[in-house]
Amino acid sequence: MRSVIRGLKGKRIGVLMGGLSEEREISLLTGRAILKALKQKGYDAVGIDVGRDIASVLVKKRIDVAFIALHGRYGEDGCVQGMLEVMGIPYTGSGVRSSSVAMDKISAKKVFLHHGISTARFEAVDKDDLSGIRLKPPVVVKPATQGSAIGVSIVRKRADLPGAVRKALRFGGAALVEEFIEGRELTVSILNGRALPVIEIRPKDGFYDYRAKYTKGMTEYLVPALLKKPVEDKVVGSALEAYRALKCGGGARVDLMLGKGDVPYVLEVNTIPGMTELSLFPKAAAHAGMTYEDVAEEMLKGAGLDKD
Ligand SMILES: Nc1ncnc2c1ncn2[C@@H]1O[C@H](COP(=O)(O)OP(=O)(O)O)[C@@H](O)[C@H]1O
Ligand SMILES: [Mg+2]
Repeated sequence: MRSVIRGLKGKRIGVLMGGLSEEREISLLTGRAILKALKQKGYDAVGIDVGRDIASVLVKKRIDVAFIALHGRYGEDGCVQGMLEVMGIPYTGSGVRSSSVAMDKISAKKVFLHHGISTARFEAVDKDDLSGIRLKPPVVVKPATQGSAIGVSIVRKRADLPGAVRKALRFGGAALVEEFIEGRELTVSILNGRALPVIEIRPKDGFYDYRAKYTKGMTEYLVPALLKKPVEDKVVGSALEAYRALKCGGGARVDLMLGKGDVPYVLEVNTIPGMTELSLFPKAAAHAGMTYEDVAEEMLKGAGLDKD
């Protein structure tokens, strides 16, 4: 990575938030929380709601460093990262290639397989044609490039498969049909290459969907997850391998299912994890003794160019 920035305190930090994706509202919450934290730490930070005119806004506001608090399309998938590379503005998080590969669950899973990282068996579908699907329910059907469990269905009988695939394809791009992993849901937050305590997610009605994620009381979180040491080591090891295999940087969160025989299956890597005050990443960091403000500052320190 090039240009690790010194003397960040004198620089003008633009916190990029909002944006054009389905996850705009969550991004605004993340962005506002980050902005507040950076200001508290004494940085010259300004919030920027990202629209099509973002390049000219960055120039007009004389932004030296970008803190990317965007989720989904254009913000988390390498697009904004590429623009910042061209403009020579150092940015937080993962680089262009890493972001775009991680955003596409099909590409990311191929990388995991290449590196011997366990991930649920899957088949890709790019049109309404199910003739090639060999996996039998229960399966999980999801859009390849969405987040926040948007468009995700758990299919328990074959008859429900076409509808679930159609729903997933509505988001554009391909869809995945994935083997359903019965087990415990875990997430590992990684900050500048270091794993934070593992969190176990227990949705009250069994599925960690958009509502379970963002409604208070719908989900129980165990911080840290209660795991035997060797299992914890395996989970953290898989998460770090996934982070490294995709060449991630800064803060990222790896979602996993702990299946039969305590095998951790990596579901996905979120290269811009939610950072609302209630999000999982700051929860894990708090357990490691870091305040929200410390995490924001550490993420900022990871800013650079030519990251992957
Ligand atoms: N293969 C699977 N087996 C069991 N549950 C799954 C599987 N894939 C996804 N899920 C459930 O769906 C949720 C969303 O899936 P995920 O792959 O993390 O996509 P995203 O969070 O980007 O929407 C997960 O948090 C988990 O609860
Ligand atoms: Mg997820």
